[in-house]
Amino acid sequence: MDLFRRKRITDLQAEALEDQSLKRCLGATHLTLLGIGAIIGTGIFVLTGTVAAQNAGPAVVLSFVLAGAASVFAALCYAEFAALVPMAGSAYTYGYATLGELFAWIIGWDLILEYALGAVTVAIGWSGYVVSFLHDLGIHIPPALTAARGSLVTLDDGSTVTAVFNLPAVLIVALISALLVVGIRESARVNNVIVFVKVAVVLLFIAGAAHAIDAANWHPFIPANTGAREHFGWTGVMAGAGVVFFAYIGFDAVSTAAQEAKNPQRDMPIGIIGSLLICTLLYIVVSAIATGVVNYTQLDVPDPIAVAADHAGLGWIAGLIKVGAIAGLSSVILVMLMGQSRVFWSMSRDGLLPPFVSKVHPKFQTPWITTIVTGLAVMIPAGLFTVREAGSLVSIGTLLAFVIVAAGVLVLRIREPELPRAFKTPLVWFVAPMGVISALYLMISLPWKTWERLIIWFVIGIVIYFLYGVRRSKLAQKSR
Ligand code: ALA
Repeated sequence: MDLFRRKRITDLQAEALEDQSLKRCLGATHLTLLGIGAIIGTGIFVLTGTVAAQNAGPAVVLSFVLAGAASVFAALCYAEFAALVPMAGSAYTYGYATLGELFAWIIGWDLILEYALGAVTVAIGWSGYVVSFLHDLGIHIPPALTAARGSLVTLDDGSTVTAVFNLPAVLIVALISALLVVGIRESARVNNVIVFVKVAVVLLFIAGAAHAIDAANWHPFIPANTGAREHFGWTGVMAGAGVVFFAYIGFDAVSTAAQEAKNPQRDMPIGIIGSLLICTLLYIVVSAIATGVVNYTQLDVPDPIAVAADHAGLGWIAGLIKVGAIAGLSSVILVMLMGQSRVFWSMSRDGLLPPFVSKVHPKFQTPWITTIVTGLAVMIPAGLFTVREAGSLVSIGTLLAFVIVAAGVLVLRIREPELPRAFKTPLVWFVAPMGVISALYLMISLPWKTWERLIIWFVIGIVIYFLYGVRRSKLAQKSR
């Protein structure tokens, strides 16, 4: 039994070229907007304030720079692979070509943490925003239907109700899954509109609040460490980088649309790197303005950007920011669900998941069964659970994929240096090792509890592989 059997790059390229089952209709702009759709979400609208108040002070800007740098290193490596092997499986397929089947399975299993669990986390956050927004408008959803099963919802009069399930979280996942079944072009169009709304809100905040900066709020830029590692000082800035990393997650999901791109060799790198650079710039400017307008000690609130807008005298923008966040989170859910169904689809094509998963709808040309199954699998935990700690599990899963992709680029450069690469990671001997080191560093900054959960997740995954994939794999059957 060869657990490390590999797919040949040339076979994968031929497969990508011949396989027209998904509809190829996305250009560079669509792909860039998909990336921005996935990236801007809870991170900038919520974590900016938490990290400023608890970890880094105004130097949350540096936390964003550090996490952004780690993401840029990874994005350059993703871009090389996505142009070379433009397959919907993304890191899973890259792993199959470089490290072999067992690792590929592990990466595919790991990506569930990023995409499916990411969608669960963001759907729950979305529900919180929508319930509060509707409440502001005088529309009240029955409180028992607004939170995780068994959790207590506090009413305006101070009394509490025990929640049964989180209806808005379930509905948004159902709605987006339905959209993804109907078509990738339709989904991309809806994403474009949402991205327009959320970027407009961010730009309005920047333009409106910049005048209200009081430079005194930036002093001290890095507040002195309080004794605990993650509370301020340089170690606080680093710990903050681990937390705000969540804000960058999503650019890699662009690579799962490779088989739906018109010209993936050229457009994958544009979509992946372009979306990340735009968001990095926005994040740095927004966090600098937020901490310049409001003292960091007052930013530990669920809606720090709205609070900063309020301080800057932009009451009306503060209201719009809620709309921007709601829009923002829905496109994150959309791209995460898209990414997850594409990865499952690829794994099923390779025989590592059952064949029904890779059925393509005859009319819509979308992987509809896997989209529905993924939707249901995300809806249940989104409706029933609170996921306070899930965010860090999403981050650790994503970072692990980054480590493997960055290492994989080097492995392939050594093993097959002569392959014609449409996009080459610049300064690869610096960028790829930095990608590995910075992602590992951010992983280490996450709590031990997150590591424990990651390990348990892998044990479950490996058992499933040995019960199913190891014998059903197409590559295994070919070599018999
Ligand atoms: N980057 C996405 C967000 O911040 C996951 O919500």
